[in-house]
Amino acid sequence: MIDNPFSYGKTVDGPFFYGRETELEEIKLSMRNATNLIIYSPRRIGKSSLVLKALKDLEHEGHPVVYIDFFKVSSREKLIELYAREVVRPMKGWEKGLQWIQGLIRGIQPVMGLDQTGLPELRLSVDPSQTARAFEDIINLPVRSAREKCWIVVFDEFQEIEKLNGASFEKELRATIQHHRNVSYVFLGSQRHLLLNMFSRKERAFYNFGKLYRLQKPAEEASVQFLHARFKAGGFRVSDELVRNILDHTRNIPYYLQYLSAEIWEYARLSASEPEAIFRQALERLLINQNDYFQGIRAQFTPFQMKLLSAVALHGYGTYESEFLQKYRLYPTSSVQKAYKRLTDLDILEKQNNQFGITDPFFALWLKQES
Ligand SMILES: Nc1ncnc2c1ncn2[C@@H]1O[C@H](COP(=O)(O)OP(=O)(O)OP(=O)(O)O)[C@@H](O)[C@H]1O
Ligand SMILES: [Mg+2]
Repeated sequence: MIDNPFSYGKTVDGPFFYGRETELEEIKLSMRNATNLIIYSPRRIGKSSLVLKALKDLEHEGHPVVYIDFFKVSSREKLIELYAREVVRPMKGWEKGLQWIQGLIRGIQPVMGLDQTGLPELRLSVDPSQTARAFEDIINLPVRSAREKCWIVVFDEFQEIEKLNGASFEKELRATIQHHRNVSYVFLGSQRHLLLNMFSRKERAFYNFGKLYRLQKPAEEASVQFLHARFKAGGFRVSDELVRNILDHTRNIPYYLQYLSAEIWEYARLSASEPEAIFRQALERLLINQNDYFQGIRAQFTPFQMKLLSAVALHGYGTYESEFLQKYRLYPTSSVQKAYKRLTDLDILEKQNNQFGITDPFFALWLKQES
């Protein structure tokens, strides 16, 4: 039984990761130089996978690294625990790590918990009466425990910090880490406008905190090669035409590209057919599976917003040009403006060169079908 040669839905590495040679070098260079980075892109382009790969390399070079996913941070205590766990992780032997961290962070203690599989696991936890001290200690750790090579601290999904007591936490964090000289802080976020607002608005705590780095789609040539190679590893020699079709339907966005390819591969195996022969059915099946999810998204919108969205799907993109607005009977302009803004704020649409496109290429196909 051959495993599916494609992977999506979690960060990827090894044979599931392709391209990004230049980006990896650029990011690693900044990290090594203790430069702060804000990495942004449309959703699912591969930010987290790229940064984790960079961290792996730099950890090998001797840099202490910390990676925190803010989706998992539900409180200040949780941030401290996750941070502490990251710091202890590379240490050999729990006891040694524990002793070391207890000497550095006030109020941190070991507790027994259960891991994902239900097995007992030793965890770090914070005495709630000591949270403020523990927070101060841990955030300053990269300076207090400086090594020869700079620390690299990554905060993924950083826009989620807004949920934790909003502006005050943001300010507090900034107030502490702005004095950290020999540390590279790297911020990533999937909600692009939220993240960019945090770093590009004068009134925000993190204004001008680091270098903005926009991650682009991978080079098409790299995607083409990857698709041929992975289908081959999965037992199929596929045509250039199929590869082209996959790129067109996924707009060369890595997540969608792997998702559709995984479906095609699986369906071809199940039906003992060539991938080319079942491309349409695989795509159909994928859209059917996503049906509830798309219905749910659509249910959040007003009839006018839905009308605009359908128009954008049918037209391929949306604009303020009268030809487009008249064709789909979109007026008054003030409503169109409002609808574009809401849909962009929700990352459903993205604006580029005065055109609005639907972020999720499968949602775009689905909307077109439904219209
Ligand atoms: N370099 C890559 N090579 C192959 N596939 C990739 C690569 N980067 C990303 N992917 C695909 O895209 C998916 C999403 O990747 P990742 O989580 O790294 O993106 P992201 O930009 O962090 O996404 P999000 O916006 O949801 O945070 C992966 O599961 C994988 O299928
Ligand atoms: Mg991510």
